[in-house]
Amino acid sequence: MTKNQVTLSPLGHYAEGMPWNPVEKVIMERRSIRGFRKQPLPDAMIRRILEAARFAPSAGNAQPWKFIVVKSPEMLAEMEKDARRFIKLLMFFLDYTRGGTLRRMLVRPLSKLFIRFRYNEFHPVPFGLMSQIAQDKTPVFHGAPTLILILEDRRGVSAPPTDVGVCGQNMVLAAHSLGAGTCWIGLVKLLMYYRKWRKRFGVKYPYQLNDCIAVGWQKPRADRQVPREVQMVSWFDKGLADPPRVEQQGA
Ligand SMILES: Cc1cc2nc3c(=O)[nH]c(=O)nc-3n(C[C@H](O)[C@H](O)[C@H](O)COP(=O)(O)O)c2cc1C
Repeated sequence: MTKNQVTLSPLGHYAEGMPWNPVEKVIMERRSIRGFRKQPLPDAMIRRILEAARFAPSAGNAQPWKFIVVKSPEMLAEMEKDARRFIKLLMFFLDYTRGGTLRRMLVRPLSKLFIRFRYNEFHPVPFGLMSQIAQDKTPVFHGAPTLILILEDRRGVSAPPTDVGVCGQNMVLAAHSLGAGTCWIGLVKLLMYYRKWRKRFGVKYPYQLNDCIAVGWQKPRADRQVPREVQMVSWFDKGLADPPRVEQQGA
């Protein structure tokens, strides 16, 4: 689909080969935005994005979430400073890709051990991002004028993190459809190592904070499209004992 495609199919209708409809267009076009204008979105627009979150599906309709909007420039600056400080400390002990040979030799075993036990948090992608942040090459919150924190209620039904993901996705899609830019920021969880932020945001059992969404007007240069993997999808559409038909999804 090209960005300027103007012919859109109506909603609630399907015909093979038809152009994307407006909802599909929003899904396909949304990108993570990592450069924001200073001016925040109007409050009414933020409330509208929050409405999209409130209407998200959740297991057992438990709605295991709570939202916090941070617009205060002083608080945003402090959050950026503290997250960066923590990342610098972490990378001082763990970034085995930097420094002289001796440092690398000493840091590497500790780092590998850490990565082994906290694989998700220290996967090469967040590790690389944190290394960049520690070198002051990129900010944590991308200078966003508003952060929407999603607190997860651990008492939710089945898998509350899934519900949080679904509700966050509702927000980023709604924001994009309204002309705003967003970026999920998983690194916000690092602030939870500070008592002052846990207290300020009231994060204690049953709540925990793993993600937030940076939202605002994007700077003119939009982030480029990132590649998507081709998926090999198994289709079980014959008998009980028949093997699946494996189909390539995407090109
Ligand atoms: C749960 C979650 C956490 C993320 N955390 C960060 C983050 O801390 N910093 C960041 O710059 N991007 C973060 N992202 C954005 C991803 O890097 C981005 O979605 C991915 O590269 C795909 O690019 P796209 O969103 O432009 O399609 C996060 C995305 C998700 C879904």
